[in-house]
Amino acid sequence: MKAHDFLTIRDISKEEMHETFTIARDMKTDRSKYAEALKGKTLALIFEKPSLRTRTSFDVGIQQLGGFSLYLSPAEISLGKRESIHDVAKNLERMVQGIMIRTFAHQIVIDMAKYASIPVINGLTDYSHPCQAMADFLTILEKKKKLEGLKLAYVGDGNNVAHSLMFAGARLGVNVTIVCPQDFKPNATALQQSVEDAKATGAMIEVVHDPAVGVKNADVVYTDTWASMGQESEAEARRKIFAPYQVNKRLMSYAKSDALFMHCLPAHRNEEVTDEVIDSPQSVVFDEAENRLHVQKAIMFQLMK
Ligand code: CP
Ligand code: NVA
Repeated sequence: MKAHDFLTIRDISKEEMHETFTIARDMKTDRSKYAEALKGKTLALIFEKPSLRTRTSFDVGIQQLGGFSLYLSPAEISLGKRESIHDVAKNLERMVQGIMIRTFAHQIVIDMAKYASIPVINGLTDYSHPCQAMADFLTILEKKKKLEGLKLAYVGDGNNVAHSLMFAGARLGVNVTIVCPQDFKPNATALQQSVEDAKATGAMIEVVHDPAVGVKNADVVYTDTWASMGQESEAEARRKIFAPYQVNKRLMSYAKSDALFMHCLPAHRNEEVTDEVIDSPQSVVFDEAENRLHVQKAIMFQLMK
């Protein structure tokens, strides 16, 4: 990986994405081989939002590589309030070898990376969730044995997860259809950049509004919460708008019969997805969650070794 930081999928090339998948699969097969890969190194985990998977996978992941993690809660550093992003970066680079940050504005991770001399990894912003997309495409590769030419239909809000899936699909040659209500389209720049990136692989990146049309012939049906972290006050209104976009058995029937169901989790059962879909044999949601561990170990290894 040539990049110093991992802030967005667009930081890395298609070849580098495959290199990360290969390392992740090797780590998954033979954990002991990498037991001292990051021996004695410490990763600071800055969380300004809650987390189960991101925290657990980075925490366990760095330990499995022989390193340590340091959890810094919102209350502890109060980023930009108690201390500026610049000063937090300048302190941390003297004591730890990498920073994982989950926050609100994407500009915060960009600024952190600008000021810190150590690698910065984006653990989710309002704009993107690149580690999630890496775990997701690793999961699809494992299950479908290929990526190019597949169709992924993302049904729901054109949010951070949708953006990273578009960026990754564009790079990897996977067609991505975002199926969303009119007023919840992905960010226009993210869409335009994805369409531009997709020219190199021939992938089609599109936005449609009719759920049945969007899901037709999909190899993967993906959804996420209708109200992301920070949008809790909109949850009730969104439940009404997004109701036609629920991934249920009927909607799944428009996809290929062997389509995978995916969700970054946490799921709001019987809102964006019904129990019968998330608990069905087509669902690979816990494989995705596990792959957060493997793919992020590979990313930490590539950036921090
Ligand atoms: N998918 C994901 O990022 O989960 P957490 O919010 O629990 O970390
Ligand atoms: N879009 C969701 C993803 C959670 C992992 C959020 O930002 O809350």
